[in-house]
Amino acid sequence: MCGIVGYVGQRRALPVLLEGLKRLEYRGYDSAGVAVRAENGTVVVEKRAGRVRVLEQAVQLQSGRLSGARIGIGHTRWATHGCPSDVNAHPHADEACRIAVVHNGIIENHGRLRAELIRRGHTFASQTDSEVVAHLIEEGLGPEVPAVGAAVAEDMTLHTGRRLSRAVQAVLPRLHGSFALVIMWDAAPELLIGVRYQTPLVIGASGGERFLASDISALLPFTRDVIVLRDGEMAEVRPDSQCLFTFDGALLPDRPPRHVSWDAAAAERGGFAHFMLKEIHEQPEALAQTLRGRLGPDGPVLAELATGSAAAALAEARRAVLVACGTAHHAAVIGRALLEAWAHLPAEADLGSEFRYRDPLITPGDLVVAVSQSGETADTLAALREAMRRGAIGLAVANAVGSTIARQADVALYTMAGPEISVCSTKAYTTQIEVLSVLALQAAAVRCTMPAAEIARWAAEIARLPGLAREALALEPEVRALAAWLAAQQHCFFIGRGLDWASAMEGQLKLKEITYLHAEAYAAGELKHGPLALVTEGTPVIALFTQAALAEKTASNVAEVRARGGRVVGVCTHALRETADPVCQDLLVLPDVPAPLAPVVAAIPLQLLAYHTAVALGTDVDKPRNLAKSVTVE
Ligand code: M6R
Repeated sequence: MCGIVGYVGQRRALPVLLEGLKRLEYRGYDSAGVAVRAENGTVVVEKRAGRVRVLEQAVQLQSGRLSGARIGIGHTRWATHGCPSDVNAHPHADEACRIAVVHNGIIENHGRLRAELIRRGHTFASQTDSEVVAHLIEEGLGPEVPAVGAAVAEDMTLHTGRRLSRAVQAVLPRLHGSFALVIMWDAAPELLIGVRYQTPLVIGASGGERFLASDISALLPFTRDVIVLRDGEMAEVRPDSQCLFTFDGALLPDRPPRHVSWDAAAAERGGFAHFMLKEIHEQPEALAQTLRGRLGPDGPVLAELATGSAAAALAEARRAVLVACGTAHHAAVIGRALLEAWAHLPAEADLGSEFRYRDPLITPGDLVVAVSQSGETADTLAALREAMRRGAIGLAVANAVGSTIARQADVALYTMAGPEISVCSTKAYTTQIEVLSVLALQAAAVRCTMPAAEIARWAAEIARLPGLAREALALEPEVRALAAWLAAQQHCFFIGRGLDWASAMEGQLKLKEITYLHAEAYAAGELKHGPLALVTEGTPVIALFTQAALAEKTASNVAEVRARGGRVVGVCTHALRETADPVCQDLLVLPDVPAPLAPVVAAIPLQLLAYHTAVALGTDVDKPRNLAKSVTVE
C-alpha cells in the first residue's frame, strides 16, 4: 500500500505535493518522491529513501529550478518489489525522463514485461515492478506525429492528451495485478492521467485546479469536492475539467463531485473511527493482495521458494521451528499445525523470547520460520539469528519489506497487508496465517505428502478466504450488541480445542490489549484441571466451534461451564450450529470454512468484539497504554 498524489493548476505544484505526501505517509513511509514539469518543459524527478521530510530537504535545495512548476505527481512508498532505496522510490520514468509514473499496487507479470522491454532495448533503473509501466507507455506513444492542418492551440492540447490516453489504454490490458496510476508527460503541460484498478484513486476539484490522490485525506487542505474513480476507470485530468473513460477508451458520463465533510484525521482513517476498525475491514483486500500470484490452478506457486537453500530445506528438512511473539506467535501456532498436517514436517512453534534462552536443539538443515508484522521485533530477530547460527535455514514471514528480519533470513515471504498502524494487530495476523497455509501446501507438494488433486483442492479453498472474510465482517452488528454486555464485565475466558485453542489465544490477547479487561484462553479440555474454579454466575466465556472433529467435545466442556452459571457466547461455523446452539446463550455464526483455514475467519468477530468493547469502555483503541507497535527491545 502506497500513497499517490497529483496536482495540475495555477499554484506552485511542489508545496501541494509535499503536503499531500505528508498526509499520506501513514500508507507507506520507506521512501518518497515527486516529479514536476519545470518551467523549461523538462520532467524533473526527485526521490529519496526515508520519510517525506528527507525528500522535502532534497527538494528545497532544488527549489529555484522547480518553483515555477504547476503540474506534478508524488508518491510515498511501502515497498513490495525492490528494497527501500533512492532508485526504487517512485516516480519512475522512461530513459529520457519524458513520462513519469507513480503506482500503488502490484504488477504481477512485471518480470515477463521487463524481460520483453529489455529485449527491445530498454534499460531499467530500479528493481520495482512499477517501472515497466513508464517504459510501456513511452513505447506506446511512438514517434511524434504533428497534428493535421493548422490546429489551434486548444486542439493541439486535446490531441496531445488523447495521444497519451490512447497509449495508456493500450498498456492497461497488458498489466496483471492491481494498480492505481498517475501519469504525466513533458509534452502535456496541463494533463495528468489517473487510472484505477482494484486500488483506490480520487480526483479533487476546485475551480481551475485539480488534484489526484490515493485517498481523500491528502486533498482536504485544498478541496472537499471529490470524484471517486471506480474500478476499471481512467481519467484525463486538466486544471478546469476531468474526463472519465473506460479502459477501452469509451467516454463515461460526467460525474459531479461529491462534497465531503470529514475532518482530516477521519479522512486518513478512510472515514472509520479508528485505524483498528479500518484495518479489520481491510482484511478481504489484504488477504486477496497477499495471494496474488501465489496460487495457480494446480496449487501454490511461491516463486521465492522455487530454488535456493530455503526451497531445499522445505523439501528435505527433518524439522521446522516457527518463532514469533504476541499475535504473530498465534499465527505461528497455526502454521505449525498446517506444516505437520499437510506436509508431515515435524514442527514446533516457540516464543522468540523463550527460544533463544533454552539452548535449542537445531540440526543443520532445519527450517526456522520467523513470523513478524514489523520484521523488527527484537526477540523474534534474536531467535532467528540463533537458529541460523546453529545451522538452520531461515525463512521470514514479514509484512514490512526490507525489515531486519526479512533481510536476515535466507528468504522472505511477504504478507501484502499494507501498513498496519493500530498497535493491535489484525490484518497482519490473518495474512500471516494465509501465507503459512500456502507455505504448508507448497511443502506438501515438494515433499509429496498429498495427492495432486488434493493440493489443487486446498489451493481453491485458500483462494476463498478473502470472500469468507468479507462474509464474517457482516457479523459486526451482532458483535456490537454483545460488546455492550462484555464492557460491563471484569473477566472473560476464551476456550476451544485444536486450532480453536489458537483462535481463543488470539481472541483473548485482542480483548485484554485494548479493553484492559482480564482475559484468559484455555484449551477447552483443560478447564476442569483448574480454571473451572473461577467460573461463577454470569462469568463470560467465548467458546469456539470451527473444528468439526472436536466440536462435540468442546460442547461437553461448555456444558460444564453452563452448569456453574457461566454465560457462553459460541462462535461457530454454520455447519456446527446444531452442536453449539444447545449449550450457548448467544451465537455468532461464521460462514462454513474447512477446519485448517478456520482461524482466518474466526479471528474477525473476535477482533470486532475487542474493538467494540474497547469503544464502549472509551479506551485509546489505536494506542493502548504501555504498548508499542514495534517492540525492538528485549
Ligand atoms: O511486529 P511483530 O509481528 O513481530 O509484533 C509481534 C507482537 O508484538 C504483536 O503481534 C503484538 O502482540 C500485537 N500488538 C498484538 O495485537
